Amino acid sequence: MVTRKRVAALSKEELIVFIQSIIVAKQQDEAFYVLDSGLVMDLFCTWTCNLPMVQPFYAIKCNPNLSFIREMVELGSIFYCSSFAEIEAVLSLGVSPDRIILANPCKVESQIKYAYSVGPSRLETSGAKFPFGAKFGALSEEVVPLLQATQATNLNIVGVSFHISCSGAIHFHAFDGAIATTKIVFEQAAQLCMPKMHILNIGGGFSAGPQFTKGASAVKNALQKYFPNDSNSNLTVIAEPGRFFAELPFTLGTSIIGKRVWHQYKEY
Ligand SMILES: Cc1ncc(COP(=O)(O)O)c(C=O)c1O
Repeated sequence: MVTRKRVAALSKEELIVFIQSIIVAKQQDEAFYVLDSGLVMDLFCTWTCNLPMVQPFYAIKCNPNLSFIREMVELGSIFYCSSFAEIEAVLSLGVSPDRIILANPCKVESQIKYAYSVGPSRLETSGAKFPFGAKFGALSEEVVPLLQATQATNLNIVGVSFHISCSGAIHFHAFDGAIATTKIVFEQAAQLCMPKMHILNIGGGFSAGPQFTKGASAVKNALQKYFPNDSNSNLTVIAEPGRFFAELPFTLGTSIIGKRVWHQYKEY
């Protein structure tokens, strides 16, 4: 929920003037980044307006800059971490462990023990601009044996997670297929008399551009189709967006300290 005083995002021209003023005032010749807090807030609002039923867990690995994480903390974000360092960074900002999930696709034992000791509330055991399907996750024929194995070891499975990677921004129908498959897994768990699953994690893969509203509609339609409100009132839907929040608010400011013309090329 956005509770802070609104900060307006800078226009491109304002940003350039601001960067020039820093370079002049500080005699700065080293490169530096400008973080636009107004833009972070706008993105947060865009997410909550388009996907109010999906709680975003910002994927820290996408950009672990502490000032940026602080902005996200103040906006009420929850965090998806995949290493000790990421958990420590978030805890150092005073974030309560119940606002963290540990979701590295492939975890070592010490990570799980550490997470248990500091208390992230959930572990995710599945699976960038990188296709995950071939490396992580489960095939449909593996689901029932996996569920049976968790029953045998008394593990409490609370839900299903998927990540359709960069394809999510373009092939929106992938959300329909993934959410349909989730529904099947929920039903298979019920047939095995397991406690009712209640968490659906739709992963990352969202881009902050104009395509976002189409992706968000695809998610909403699929949720409505496979998990209509009446039969799944206790369903919690979460996501692990990284790029969506981190790709736009940073601008690199740098002075040109040398240039040359090389045949038809100009090099700076
Ligand atoms: C498991 C997992 N979830 C979410 C993300 C964030 O992905 P994106 O930046 O495409 O939203 C990543 C990024 O690598 C990831 O590994």
